Amino acid sequence: MSTILHQPLRILVTGGAGFIGANFLHQIVPKFPDAVIVNLDKLTYAGNLQNLHAIENARNYRFVHGDICDLALVQKLFTEHQFTTVVHFAAESHVDRSIHSPIDFVRSNVVGTASLLQVAKDFWMRFSSDMQKFRFLHVSTDEVFGALGSSGTFSTETPYAPRSPYAASKAGADHFVRAYAETYGLPVVVSNCSNNYGPYQFPEKLIPLAIVRALSRDPIPVYSKGENVRDWLHVRDHCEALTCMLQYGLTGETYLVGSAGECSNLELLRVLLTILDEELGRPSGSSWELITFVKDRPGHDFRYAIDASKLITELGWTPSHTLEEGLRTTVRWYLSNPSWLQAVMDESYRTYMKSQYSTG
Ligand code: NAD
Ligand code: TYD
Repeated sequence: MSTILHQPLRILVTGGAGFIGANFLHQIVPKFPDAVIVNLDKLTYAGNLQNLHAIENARNYRFVHGDICDLALVQKLFTEHQFTTVVHFAAESHVDRSIHSPIDFVRSNVVGTASLLQVAKDFWMRFSSDMQKFRFLHVSTDEVFGALGSSGTFSTETPYAPRSPYAASKAGADHFVRAYAETYGLPVVVSNCSNNYGPYQFPEKLIPLAIVRALSRDPIPVYSKGENVRDWLHVRDHCEALTCMLQYGLTGETYLVGSAGECSNLELLRVLLTILDEELGRPSGSSWELITFVKDRPGHDFRYAIDASKLITELGWTPSHTLEEGLRTTVRWYLSNPSWLQAVMDESYRTYMKSQYSTG
């Protein structure tokens, strides 16, 4: 591995109460004990402070309840903490919700990202002589590249062709990030990652939804015939990749993250449900009967697949989970955390949160 280019010292993490942001905070709070780490999160339905219970009292960590679109709040936080590093996760993230409420996605993903960039740029320009080491790491998705046919992979050369409102809003955010790099010289790094799975994922996404439905022996809805393909990556491998980009990534560069975890939705569910049956002591494969084919998602992208060779060869990242082993540890995590799952299912996590945070 090459020498560290950026030492994250005063870090703003946005959206850290969500699935990937929380896993990232679990990695960096102990990894950078001398850093100041501020987590700014609006606590939408997807934000859950119980995800952060293990680190909430860490000396180097602070939670702030707020919206990335709130320019005054973000300015206040930059002035107070003099951030040298921004890791931007905050977004509306679910494709099906984007089909029903696209404007929420424009607001948080496009306007929110542009607002954050504007404050970061003003701050960085004011202090630029001392701020050579500034980094704005933008966390994006492979969905901005559109859909693949049955062969080929996305690479850093693939043109943007978003097809869902979610993907279009993330593409808009990516373009703003690049525009701030080109126009003002803001030191940015962009990450485009494939589908994640692992602990703390909200059970609207396919894998935790299937686990929850199988536990209660309810039907598991599979769009069309389950032939669509996703390239699954364990969230902890994604978070390691982000830390790697933060420290070693070249500014202005884009890195694609994926671990050759390609699988059709039907194959994925069969493996997942077989593991779940084994862990629960049910007859192997007995939960397959819960798979229920339903009407397809409108504009459903057929296939995603990632060529991560740039990240692997240039930055030395390697994923450490195979899909089958990652699914098994994920199933075990959901089975070992029934109170987390219960609080999400009965929505009591929202009440827990109101007792935990203060504004500003
Ligand atoms: P998530 O929906 O679980 O969490 C999003 C978090 O952002 C929540 O805590 C929410 O409260 C917060 N948030 C939303 N709008 C906000 C706003 N306006 N201001 C402040 N906070 C706000 O999402 P996730 O799955 O953890 O994804 C995190 C990021 O990674 C997103 O940018 C997403 O596009 C990207 N990504 C996700 C995946 C995936 O498979 N989940 C894959 C690639 C990239
Ligand atoms: P999802 O987890 O929503 O991620 P994304 O849409 O960002 O890829 O969906 C993963 C795949 O699973 C996708 O092809 C849609 C499909 N899917 C179902 O078949 N049924 C479901 O109930 C959900 C939520 C998704």
